[in-house]
Amino acid sequence: MKARQIKTNVYWVGAIDWDRRLFDALIPLPDGTSYNAYLVQGSQKVALIDTVDPSTTDVLMAYLENVPVIDYVIANHAEQDHAGSIPQVLEKYPNAKAVTTPKGRDLLVALLLIPEDRFITVSDGETLSLGDKTLEFIHAPWVHWPETMLTYLREDKILFPCDFFGSHLATTDLYVTNEGQVYEAAKRYFAEIMMPFRTSIEKHLEKLNSYKIDVIAPSHGPLYDKPSFILEAYRSWVFGPPKNIVVLPYISMHGSTQKMLEYFVGALADRGITVKQFNLAVTDIGKLAMALVDATTMVIGTPTVLVGPHPNVAYAAFLANALRPKLHFISIIGSYGWGGKAVEQLTGMIPNLKAEVLAPVLIKGFPRKEDFEALDNLASTIAKKHKESGSA
Ligand code: FEO
Repeated sequence: MKARQIKTNVYWVGAIDWDRRLFDALIPLPDGTSYNAYLVQGSQKVALIDTVDPSTTDVLMAYLENVPVIDYVIANHAEQDHAGSIPQVLEKYPNAKAVTTPKGRDLLVALLLIPEDRFITVSDGETLSLGDKTLEFIHAPWVHWPETMLTYLREDKILFPCDFFGSHLATTDLYVTNEGQVYEAAKRYFAEIMMPFRTSIEKHLEKLNSYKIDVIAPSHGPLYDKPSFILEAYRSWVFGPPKNIVVLPYISMHGSTQKMLEYFVGALADRGITVKQFNLAVTDIGKLAMALVDATTMVIGTPTVLVGPHPNVAYAAFLANALRPKLHFISIIGSYGWGGKAVEQLTGMIPNLKAEVLAPVLIKGFPRKEDFEALDNLASTIAKKHKESGSA
């Protein structure tokens, strides 16, 4: 594929990774991803904005074969999927400097062993002239590492935000063509990567209000030539109140918790609540993360294993705690054989979730009439709480 022009002398020179199925040995990538790098050729200087994952360095270097000079490599983010090819680019262009935040420099020295004298560090709002094009650097920590910054190309009104606004989506479409598909991929990305940093994102979104942006060119997934699409989506995920939704991650070993769960899902639905049920033995955790973006309540379903929750359930609780969704209420349902500490252990695993814990329904063995009544009561409590909190 040839370098793809975005505006005069601004090109996409990235790599599409169709087959990648896991990120950070953790996050599922059902639709692959891309590592977008951009070449900006000014009348006097040339900049490369971000690079590509080391597994695709050869793709980037092929684009650079006929580029005689690069003066600056802009490192918006030090994670390897964008910074991992900087050493090869600096080697090819011995006079080039890597441009990043002070924290970015420290991380790149530590992670990629790039010599300190190859860096120029920039402060928030600082500019770099390429002649007829000007790059402005906007410090934006915690999207999603502490060193992250955004780069704004003033004359062309292009924002290069790296991971921020990105989506894991392999596509040959340079710009968004299928908004529904990109919305899902970008929401998944937000849920898995950005959601823990909602407070920082709020500030960054407000800061961007003062910029006129024609194109958002992230470092994963297609570019946005209608920036309002992704800006509004982010505003709703960050600022919007949670909805009348209960997320129900669960495991059942011998059918008792399954029976409770089936009854409980019906009881919630009968009360007008949307339920998103995830069997943790088979679920894609990205889908669970996405559901948590909008949910008011999470109810965890677990059997008892070795006196505690099933390990898959503990994993989901740990993940929810790390992702810090907006949840207002939490509860637990499940079954045990001869006692246990599933409730104490699970509630102890979610200190980040500032949610009210509603009385759990833990039963011995297979559910009976009074257990179903207890589940009805919990469903009624949740419906009442949702009304009181304004989500229903
Ligand atoms: Fe796409 Fe934080 O790296």
